[in-house]
Amino acid sequence: MESQTEAFQITGGRPLVGEVTISGAKNSALKLMAASLLAVGKSTITNVPDIADVHIMEELLTRLGCSTKYEPSAQIVTIDVPIAPGHRADYDLVRKMRASINVLGPLLARVGEVEVALPGGDAIGSRGIDLHIKGLTDLGAKARSEHGFVIATAPNGLNGARIELDFPSVGATENIMTAAVLAKGTTVIDNAAREPDVVDLGEYLVAMGAKISGLGTPVITIIGVDELTPTTHATLPDRIVAGTWAFAAVMTRGDITIHGGRIDHLEVPLDKIVEAGAVVTSTKDGFRVKMDKRPIAVDVATLPYPGFPTDLQPFVITMNSIAEGNSLVTENVFEGRFMFVNELQRLGAQIHVDGHHAAISGIEHLSGAPVAATDIRAGAGLVLAGLVSDGVTTVEDAFHIDRGYPGFAEALKSLGAQVERI
Ligand code: UD1
Repeated sequence: MESQTEAFQITGGRPLVGEVTISGAKNSALKLMAASLLAVGKSTITNVPDIADVHIMEELLTRLGCSTKYEPSAQIVTIDVPIAPGHRADYDLVRKMRASINVLGPLLARVGEVEVALPGGDAIGSRGIDLHIKGLTDLGAKARSEHGFVIATAPNGLNGARIELDFPSVGATENIMTAAVLAKGTTVIDNAAREPDVVDLGEYLVAMGAKISGLGTPVITIIGVDELTPTTHATLPDRIVAGTWAFAAVMTRGDITIHGGRIDHLEVPLDKIVEAGAVVTSTKDGFRVKMDKRPIAVDVATLPYPGFPTDLQPFVITMNSIAEGNSLVTENVFEGRFMFVNELQRLGAQIHVDGHHAAISGIEHLSGAPVAATDIRAGAGLVLAGLVSDGVTTVEDAFHIDRGYPGFAEALKSLGAQVERI
């Protein structure tokens, strides 16, 4: 065990009031960076958040022979891709960041071979890559797993195909799309993921010269082209971070204006927040969430987009822990995502987990204690729990939170929270 990791120390009891500005989405920026491998020359991605994963992706692209430069103040990354990039993503990087798997499609399409260490990422479930492999195999790749690596080759190039996904996996849809853009002929992905991140990636590819239709629907059609050219693209705002602030406003009985938040990307979660008693209004460049009473518990089942996002599940569980009434939260996307419930129970939350269901009995206040973050969203959920706990809560392993929330402590403080990094 490491003994020197940083922690968030929160003294609960204050409502969060004020304004926040949402930066670019982590889960989009990383995929855009990986997809830049598809075009020789210099690509520019703007609105890229200053988070650890962006630097890990930079390191991965550098090891593949790219020259990358990130300017944190401008939030811009440039990636200069060589004619012949490398083809291997090592375990030391892949284990730190699940999105490393997103080089699979681009490298297979560009180089004809790729070796990617089998991913680790967050401790939120098994996270297989069988759907990625099946899709790429349908395009003509040969794939095998050896010594902890998945090795894929396309000795005869890639050929368009009709691919039906058993589950609308975000990562699999992205890898198939980024391989198919340079394949011969037409690819149809049936039961494709519809997440805004997938749409953002698709729009980036289109700007590079790819032919893609059906983005944001369950059927994506891709007509392969011979080559793509580098371009400039702005990352879409992070809907999960925006959703986190929305739940923070509700839980603390606060009033937060979320600049850059997209209501159209958060319809189901915002409906749930309204059901809990909050007032959500649209503003010039985002939305505002206001709450002046104890929230009413809501039932939620996570689902692929446009359903309730699994990445916001820790926040609804935390909200329900202090809400009026009993509720049931069902996790349908990631099996391991209730692990943080043990930590929430240390704060006094009344939660009973049975398989992928969590039954929650709301209590008036949680009670501050030391807890540990197990992944990005669980970590942020525990910080929000600290805001509504009596006394002091310490959330250890803050690096998990830093992976998804740039400047989280500063933003919390600006909204009136008593938070320190220790
Ligand atoms: C992405 C996001 C993650 C988010 C998730 C769902 C990134 C880096 N991460 O993860 O934050 O929670 O979408 O919105 O963008 N599965 C398989 N086989 C596969 C692929 C997936 O069994 O080949 C399973 C996974 O184990 C999981 C479920 O399908 O249980 C969903 O996975 P997927 O949609 O692929 O999510 P990720 O792309 O990993």
